[in-house]
Formats: sequence, C-alpha cells, structure tokens
Amino acid sequence: MVTGALTGPALAGYAWCVEPGRLAVSVRDVRLPRLPQSLDGLTIAHLSDLHVGAFVSADHVARAVELANELEPDLVVLTGDFVYRDPARIHEGAVVLAELRPRVATVAVLGNHDVWTDPDLITSALGQAGVTVLRDEFLPLDFPGARLWLMGLEDRGYSGHRGGSTEQFLYRWSGAVRAAERLLRETPAAESRLLLVHNPDITEFMPEGVADLALCGHTHGGQVRLPWLGPPVVPSLFGQRFAEGLVQGSQMPVHITRGVGLTPPPVRLNCPPEVAFLRLHAG
Ligand SMILES: [Fe+2]
Repeated sequence: MVTGALTGPALAGYAWCVEPGRLAVSVRDVRLPRLPQSLDGLTIAHLSDLHVGAFVSADHVARAVELANELEPDLVVLTGDFVYRDPARIHEGAVVLAELRPRVATVAVLGNHDVWTDPDLITSALGQAGVTVLRDEFLPLDFPGARLWLMGLEDRGYSGHRGGSTEQFLYRWSGAVRAAERLLRETPAAESRLLLVHNPDITEFMPEGVADLALCGHTHGGQVRLPWLGPPVVPSLFGQRFAEGLVQGSQMPVHITRGVGLTPPPVRLNCPPEVAFLRLHAG
C-alpha cells in the first residue's frame, strides 16, 4: 500500500501520474475439474479495458503487448473496452494489438465503451489486426486430443450500478442470456468451454453449466483501493465482489482482470494496470 508512505499532493500526483503508467504481471493458476488432461497447462494472457484515447496512449498498450508476448501464451483473450469516447482511436490500438504473438489465437469481445461508440468499426479494425471478435458467437479450437470452445458474448451497454435494478439489468442483457442458451445447445456438453464477456455481473445469470471459466474485465479493480476498505467505487451490481482476480461465482469461476487502461477520473491507487497470465490445470 502506497498510502502509508505518501500524503496529500504527493499521493495525488502518484495516483494521477505514476501508477496508471505501471504494468503488473499477475500469474494465476486455475484448476478446472472438466478440463481434459490434454489441455492441462494451457496458458492464457488476459488483457482488457485498454481504453485507448485521451487518457491511455497506444505506447502504454504496446508495453502490455510486449509483456504478454514475453509470457509466450497459447491464447490471448481481450475482454473489451478498447477505446474511450473516440472509436477512431481503435486504429492506434489495432496497430499495437497486431503485434500479439500467441501460439494459437487472439480472441476478443466488445465492452460497453465499444458498443456505445462504433462496434462495427472496432470489430473491423481488430479483425484486420488478426483478432477474432466473437459477437454472441463461439469458436472451436482444436488441440491434440481435445477441443476447447470459446464463447463470446457482446456487452449490452448497461451496468446498472448507478441506481439501476437487477430487473433492468436482466432486461437489457436478455439477448446475451438467450445467446448463451443457444451456444450451450449448439456445443457438445462434454467439451470444455470458456466464456468471454466484458461485464462479470452477467455470469451470475448465465444458464447452469454454460462454461468452465469466465474471463471478464469492466470493473478495473475499482482503480482506487483504500487500506482496509478496498475499492469504494466498483461499477457492479455486486459491490466489490467482482472487482478483480479469480472469484468463485454462483455459476462458474470468474477471472476479472484490472485492465490495462483506465477511465476518468484518470487515477489509479493500489490498483495498477495489469497483464494477467492464467495457467489452466485439469482435475
Ligand atoms: Fe473499462
């Protein structure tokens, strides 16, 4: 915690100018009971919430890409919010993301900031960068001895955390739930599935057994974490529960990364930007 060492203006300066430019690599081991032995050890670099724009440069994202490449992941998963306000900034981000070098694939879903701006432009730019964007779609990946399904649900642009209700949230996200039900029907029950969706809240309302693990972003870890109190502001219906890390949800384990970028107020404190690296284990 830096708050014990810094006070007043120094603390504000650190939160404004220093910590947003840091990048932490978080390595997490995830045990999945249904994962076939042949996929034991599969690695995923999980990046999210780049928010390229007024507050986050493409150079910062390029450093995250470098770190991800150094980890030599099998997959790179990007869970949305590529831009902030200006969708044209995706072109800078896409140039950088084209440098990702996973062994198998780079797969993405769109976040609320993407669907609020120009989702088709962002999808197209990502496609040209070699990123497969799943828009309520699934992608089978064939490995020696096993197939892994990536199921990507698009954000519905509604978080509901500012005075909204669970009923409103479910109304706005009903299409995503129906898409998940369809994907569940159309993929073999015995094969492993990873769910990619920007907002972790919706994982609580997914059909039972839809995925072995969900990969999410959106909450940014709260951006500011206070000693003892944790993050006072988390854009979630569930308070601090889905702020960051590996969380056991009611339907599936959920991995939430703190993200690479940020949104206003453009500060981070005790919550540095993150390149998450997951090692999946069977059994
Ligand atoms: Fe975000």
